[in-house]
Amino acid sequence: MARFPAHPERRPAVVTGASSGIGRAVALALAAAGHPVVLGARRLSRLEALAAEIAAGGGVAHPLRLDLSEPESVDAFAKEGLQAMEVELLVSAAGRNLPDSATSPAPAQFAEMMAVNLVGVQRLVGALLGPMVERGRGDLVFVTSEVVRLPRVRNSAYVASKWGLHGYARTLQMELEGTGVRASIVQPGQTLTEMGSDWDPAATTEVLDEWVRWGVARHDHFLRPGAVAAAVMAAVQAPPGTQFSLVEVEPQAPAAPRRRPASPAKPDTEGSS
Ligand SMILES: NC(=O)c1ccc[n+]([C@@H]2O[C@H](COP(=O)([O-])OP(=O)(O)OC[C@H]3O[C@@H](n4cnc5c(N)ncnc54)[C@H](OP(=O)(O)O)[C@@H]3O)[C@@H](O)[C@H]2O)c1
Repeated sequence: MARFPAHPERRPAVVTGASSGIGRAVALALAAAGHPVVLGARRLSRLEALAAEIAAGGGVAHPLRLDLSEPESVDAFAKEGLQAMEVELLVSAAGRNLPDSATSPAPAQFAEMMAVNLVGVQRLVGALLGPMVERGRGDLVFVTSEVVRLPRVRNSAYVASKWGLHGYARTLQMELEGTGVRASIVQPGQTLTEMGSDWDPAATTEVLDEWVRWGVARHDHFLRPGAVAAAVMAAVQAPPGTQFSLVEVEPQAPAAPRRRPASPAKPDTEGSS
């Protein structure tokens, strides 16, 4: 028997946050690669539209409502997902990001962000992991954020939740060693999605100015969701025997305008013969 058996051609997947942005792009990429997908998020109508798009392209998708902040919703989602497919991939892309202030606590909002970005994710992993370990194969991919490397002011709940998710995923990687199940972290930089579109415009300007002051935005290019999906696919498609533990995906800076060489100074002819 091979030391590391090849991946099956069809690997049923769960994608959270599939109604928008990175999660949606991941679901499309997985479906295009021939993997059936369970699509999770709160906006079911969007998931249904995506499932129809995937089916029209010859793929298989199963839309299911999921609210990561509600334990019952997570449990029901996992149960129905496992009934629909023998899930062996989980891409955790759902996330919530609201501006705040670490010095003016808003406990309810902090708790909600932790619930969506961390506690709900841990609950979902708990519900899906058992059969993967029993089968001796599977992939968990956690979409975190560059805030783990570079924390941001006015974003304390988001930063805390992503640091928590990073720590959880790192621990999981250690405990999964030797089980055949891999855990990967995909850590994107700024990406053009709907994230932030629900922020109050005045607060947005204020927070962005603060981020620039703290040296966060080095240039104005944003990743596209498909670029992050490509990193997720690389982790999932990594050959058996290989693990992409942490993939940092950063937007490349646009090419700077070429500097024209300075024209040589005119020779001083005065006085020359
Ligand atoms: N955009 C960036 O610059 C950036 C950078 C680094 C990391 N990230 C991370 O990338 C991931 C995807 O974000 P995105 O940029 O694609 O943002 P997005 O377009 O706003 O997508 C966020 C997704 O999360 C889902 N979601 C939010 N609350 C949820 C809840 N309570 N239960 C279940 N699903 C929920 C949303 O679906 P519903 O609203 O339908 O529930 C949506 O599908 C997030 O984890 C985010 O932290 C983003």
